Amino acid sequence: MPTKKAPVTLCITSGKGGVGKTSLTVNLAFALAEKGARVLIVDGDLGLANVDVLLGLSVKRTIRDVLDSGADPLESVIYLEPNLGVLPASSGVPEMVTLGPEDQSRLGSVLTTISSHFDYALMDTAAGIGPSVLWFNSFVNHNIIVLSPDPASLTDSYALIKILSRDHNRKNFHLVINLANSDGEGLQTYETLEKVAKKFLNLDLQYLGTVPDDKSVHKAVRGRYLFIQKAPQSKASQALFDLADRIKMLKEMTS
Ligand SMILES: Nc1ncnc2c1ncn2[C@@H]1O[C@H](COP(=O)(O)OP(=O)(O)O)[C@@H](O)[C@H]1O
Ligand SMILES: [Mg+2]
Repeated sequence: MPTKKAPVTLCITSGKGGVGKTSLTVNLAFALAEKGARVLIVDGDLGLANVDVLLGLSVKRTIRDVLDSGADPLESVIYLEPNLGVLPASSGVPEMVTLGPEDQSRLGSVLTTISSHFDYALMDTAAGIGPSVLWFNSFVNHNIIVLSPDPASLTDSYALIKILSRDHNRKNFHLVINLANSDGEGLQTYETLEKVAKKFLNLDLQYLGTVPDDKSVHKAVRGRYLFIQKAPQSKASQALFDLADRIKMLKEMTS
């Protein structure tokens, strides 16, 4: 599967847990793949993997095994569709201890090699501001911050953006507001964070879109299927197809 153009790498992150990073990552990946792109999902939650759980996959080899054994990373990819792959992570590994500088540089070369076979690599991170979260955010072309209208989510997103911009020289953040009651609430949440980031960090945050609080997402998580596949007409699915279109525009900006 040779490719000519460099892939677009994106990291889906949040600070706070439970705001929908993993659900959005896998469904967004499907939306992009549906539009014809070759897409890789990377489970960047290296200590408490959950992409595989959400998709009900049976995992044989993980990122950890690739790092430990030097095995071919492409052989660890599980294909959901011919153009949609998943690179799974391990569960129950204390990643903060194990992801040392040597691992970080190996992880960088593994992800660069493997991503070159795809048009997009979407990396779902752990919650918090631990070393792997900061690493993935520093590695990618684009940082997507997922937040909900909940004030704690806003505060955590601000803290994450502050660290990434101040200590890791990241400047381009794209915001997705999830679990919103309306597009208006999503936009308002974006504007609140945007104003604070402008005032205190001198950053212009980009608005990528709003995903509504939608029962079909919850049902899909329980049933271990993709809502975008089984309920493509749902409000959440429509929002994700729109997000996929905007992400395609980011690709045009990158290449
Ligand atoms: N748009 C949404 N509408 C309804 N429920 C959602 C939505 N997004 C996420 N959820 C629910 O929130 C919970 C956490 O989602 P998850 O993707 O695991 O978050 P994270 O990866 O950020 O921890 C799941 O139970 C999921 O069903
Ligand atoms: Mg998650």
